[in-house]
Amino acid sequence: MRTPSLDIQYKTPDQLIKMREAGLVVAAALARLREAVAPGLSTADLDGVAEAVIREAGGLPSFKGYHGYPATICASVNEQIVHAIPSARQVLREGDVISLDCGAIVDGWHGDAAITVGVGEIDPRLSRMITVAEDAMWAGIAAGARSLLTGRGRLTDISYAVEGAIRAGGRYGIVRGYGGHGIGTEMHQDPHVLNYGKPGRGPRLVPGLALAIEPMLTLGSPDTVELADGWTVITRDRSVAVHVEHTVTFFDDGVWVTTAEDGGRRRLGDLVTAKTGVRSS
Ligand code: MF3
Ligand code: CO
Repeated sequence: MRTPSLDIQYKTPDQLIKMREAGLVVAAALARLREAVAPGLSTADLDGVAEAVIREAGGLPSFKGYHGYPATICASVNEQIVHAIPSARQVLREGDVISLDCGAIVDGWHGDAAITVGVGEIDPRLSRMITVAEDAMWAGIAAGARSLLTGRGRLTDISYAVEGAIRAGGRYGIVRGYGGHGIGTEMHQDPHVLNYGKPGRGPRLVPGLALAIEPMLTLGSPDTVELADGWTVITRDRSVAVHVEHTVTFFDDGVWVTTAEDGGRRRLGDLVTAKTGVRSS
């Protein structure tokens, strides 16, 4: 089978560094949302918080108006996996888990990231699934960085590492119909980044890439259903899902996670580029 040709936007180091500004705005919005999440709050309330943070920081909410999407964040609760539209009628309750997905544009460049958090006290099985999703995302990012540094790496080295970390973490469903993506002057660019599969396939991992890496896990079957609103994606078996995401930029000496406050330093160590001036500190 022939691979259809991909339209990948390769960035200069200066452009990748520029993407950090949008990434930090997204990081700030998600940090504020993480603190705000509490029983009794609606997902529309959270949307307002995120929009205020983004605009005060001088950014634009990238989701708003994207193919008609009406809000600043996606707020996906429990069996909702991704792309759930915030609503005043969706009120958080103790024990819920919520994926908060947020994107911003600064000077034309995008950042895109998501966290999953518990509302009050949650079932330990759910906290465990959140940890596995985070570990899998960072395993994918680290694998991408290591592959990049060999000079022979390919995109699905990331996919393979994400899947491996999820399987090592327990018996979870791995959502197949949605995944990560290239990002730059548009939120969604080529290539699509699968969260499973064999390594060594797809485009080469080279400096200039910017990728959003976003695993989605379920407690049950990975099968999905899109609701009649045209956006919300839920698990077919209504099992709880989690979703986390970071935007990662690729330099010749490592990677920089634009949407992580520390650029990924704590999780990645020396796999982080020195080009941003952070490694030596
Ligand atoms: N981070 C989400 C993704 O990559 C973007 C949500 S799509 C929007 O799929 F329409 F809600 F903006
Ligand atoms: Co994304």
